[in-house]
Amino acid sequence: MFRRTLTVIVPTLLLASQIFIGSASAYGLDEASRTVPLNAQGDTTVLSITQLKAGKALFNSQCAQCHAGGATKTDSKAKLSVTYLSSATPMRYSVEGLVDYLKNPTTHDGEMEISDVHPSIKSADIYPGMRNLTDENLTALAGYILAQQKEWHFLDGR
Ligand code: HEC
Repeated sequence: MFRRTLTVIVPTLLLASQIFIGSASAYGLDEASRTVPLNAQGDTTVLSITQLKAGKALFNSQCAQCHAGGATKTDSKAKLSVTYLSSATPMRYSVEGLVDYLKNPTTHDGEMEISDVHPSIKSADIYPGMRNLTDENLTALAGYILAQQKEWHFLDGR
């Protein structure tokens, strides 16, 4: 009886893991695609598939109305792309840079705070969707934007 159960369970598990690994890479979620810049010093971090999915859900609910496809609805210069985010002051092309932006957004040149017109933790009273977001939520959101560069590279004309 025990043997028979095993002969069913083991192949099922093997098949399930094959399907899981297969679909993960089909969606660009292999480890290389989940490796993103952590900070301006050049360190990187590997996000989990769970983090990226959570980040995508947050992006779709809080950001996509203005940043669908990584562009910006009301400002054609501002793109969530490698080139644009890298050229911001402070540097935003990293998890830490984006998390900092979502706490206290500034103009691209870093000269002015814009939390009164851009969703952020600081302006969660005007942007209720930003209420109760933890550092973990913000890391997932930032990680999703950075991992999306595989899809959004056309924003930089590549
Ligand atoms: C109501 C529209 C709107 C929403 C919603 C919105 N943004 Fe923006 N975002 C903008 C505009 C406009 C700019 C350009 C602002 C500027 O620099 O003057 C911008 C700029 C940015 C930048 C560029 C920073 C830089 O200077 O390089 C980042 C990053 C960003 N947004 C992330 C997000 C994220 C993440 C969300 C979701 C939490 C979000 N935005 C939601 C309108 C929006």
